[in-house]
Amino acid sequence: MTAILQDAVQSAALDKLFAAALAARENAYAPYSHFAVGAAVRTLAGEVFSGANVENAAYPAGCCAETGAIAAMVAAGGRQISDVLVVADCGRGIWPCGACRQRIAEFATEDAVVHSAGPEGIRQSIKFAELLPQAFDRQTLESEPD
Ligand code: THU
Repeated sequence: MTAILQDAVQSAALDKLFAAALAARENAYAPYSHFAVGAAVRTLAGEVFSGANVENAAYPAGCCAETGAIAAMVAAGGRQISDVLVVADCGRGIWPCGACRQRIAEFATEDAVVHSAGPEGIRQSIKFAELLPQAFDRQTLESEPD
């Protein structure tokens, strides 16, 4: 495939990811923060799963949009995330919170990319490894002591 065709495929895939996250954000349940977030993950197989933040009167029981998207992916059998997209309507870029970075790390491929979007589209994309360097992971847990 030529580079140009590959770009077109990649951009169509990102359009789909963005549309899924934006649609999920429409259903965000955020009566306390009034900060609606949508997220979507894409698996290596090209499947897309989305989630929205779900708040709770007992504040710590609420959960992030990324958490919902990852749960949907896992329930459908997905295990390898190639892209994550988070969308909110705020002046500065939104990036996954620390706990969600750890959740993403569990399933992110080595080259996974995180996209930060506003309602108008993607604003910035960064390699996941740059968002959570030196992650605590399965290899750490299973490594033998020296
Ligand atoms: N939130 C997310 O859903 N994703 C993020 O990456 C950051 C924060 C939600 C949690 C809470 O419902 C609201 O945004 C304000 O923190």
